Amino acid sequence: MLGFWGLIMKRSVCDPEAFLQIYRVNGAYSKSASYSVLKGSRPFDLAGERSEKIHSAQRRLVARAYSMESTMNLESQVDELVIPLLKKLDDVAFSKHIIDLGYLLQLFAFDVIGAISFSKPYGFVSSGSDSFGSDEKFFARLARSLNSAAWLMHVGWFFRLHQKLVLPLIGNLLAINERNGFFFHFAQREVQTRKDQGGNDKDIVGQLSKVQQTKKELDDLSIAYMMTSNVFAGSDTTSITLRAIFLYLIRHPNALSKLRSELQGRQALGKLSSIATAAEAETCPYLQAVIYESMRLFSPVAFMLDRDVPVEGMTICGHHVPGGTVVGTSPWAIHLAPQVWGNDVEEFRPERWLDCEDPGTLRRFFFAFGGGTRTCIGRNISWLEIEKLVATLVMRYNFKLADDAKITEDSGVLVFLKGLRVQVTRLED
Ligand code: HEM
Repeated sequence: MLGFWGLIMKRSVCDPEAFLQIYRVNGAYSKSASYSVLKGSRPFDLAGERSEKIHSAQRRLVARAYSMESTMNLESQVDELVIPLLKKLDDVAFSKHIIDLGYLLQLFAFDVIGAISFSKPYGFVSSGSDSFGSDEKFFARLARSLNSAAWLMHVGWFFRLHQKLVLPLIGNLLAINERNGFFFHFAQREVQTRKDQGGNDKDIVGQLSKVQQTKKELDDLSIAYMMTSNVFAGSDTTSITLRAIFLYLIRHPNALSKLRSELQGRQALGKLSSIATAAEAETCPYLQAVIYESMRLFSPVAFMLDRDVPVEGMTICGHHVPGGTVVGTSPWAIHLAPQVWGNDVEEFRPERWLDCEDPGTLRRFFFAFGGGTRTCIGRNISWLEIEKLVATLVMRYNFKLADDAKITEDSGVLVFLKGLRVQVTRLED
């Protein structure tokens, strides 16, 4: 019966009270059938798992490896990757060439995932490419898979039909299945290599291997599934955010100069290193506000995070919504609700995070990393990368959009921001 209601009724919710009810931490609404498309046949999949009970048991096994403390232990690995990025940008500034900053940031984010997951930086930034030898380019493959999920999540019946009939008889026709195919095999190989050849004990595979010693249910296969999520969910999301931040800063010179003077002020006091540490960046309020505001206006995740209304139903704006209905909110919808953000909701105004009486209230509606029990497990990793890189690059360079730059958006599960071609100049040391 519940499934029937879900099938015929789906409600996009933007009412702030209803939003808080759906994505609360206690008594969370469970994920809807559309997530089966992400999960496929994976027995260990935090993002796609629909059962709250299984999800919470699995999340407990891996949570520590993604905690703030564990992430901070990996900061030096990220710093090592910032160095080739700066070298690349210095060369570009010197040669006065135009560069696709968006692509460079994507290469960087992927290198970071490799380093913190498997102690394996892929060297994408240094080589300037996301290809492994003769293989198809990695990012194109990822994007195809994500775009396939975007439409299939609306027609789960088609996905199930494909899995039951087409897959065994004809073969795979859906790019989303690469999540359990190509990307899973990639992650599995990397986990095995990491285990055979060793690495930094503090990387994520190292930490999960430690958990494995006492929790046998976290077998090698589960670790490989978890690392597939890192590869699949960890680089595009972060690089889209970085692209959006730099684009907003380029388009809002006042915000940029305010940010730069905050950073330079800290630097003059010896409180900000030339490669900023996360701890230093955390103490820069305007920097933090710029990140929040950019992610509010340009959230990498675009889809409605579907949840099932429990049997007793719920009330939205005085209307009863029966149990089994699929409800959900997209970050793009709640981030543009004037009841929460005010009438200047479409303006890029980092000050809103600093002026408001209670920033905690705004943060309750900040949905870029999802909400409730299913919030992003990689948030600490991404935030560390983002705050470090934005502070470091803003102190060192000025970016100007190239005359022929054409910014476009390509929207599916994620909203890809493309065309960030820029001129780079070094600021005076
Ligand atoms: C700016 C960067 C990122 C953004 C905006 C982002 C966004 C999100 C969102 C909105 C969700 C909730 C999805 C839902 O409810 O359906 C989510 C979940 C998840 N993310 Fe991220 N993510 C980011 C970075 C990362 C990174 C770096 C990793 C891994 C290293 C990662 C791994 C995951 C996983 C495994 C889940 C499922 C968590 C669970 O349900 O327990 N994400 N992310």
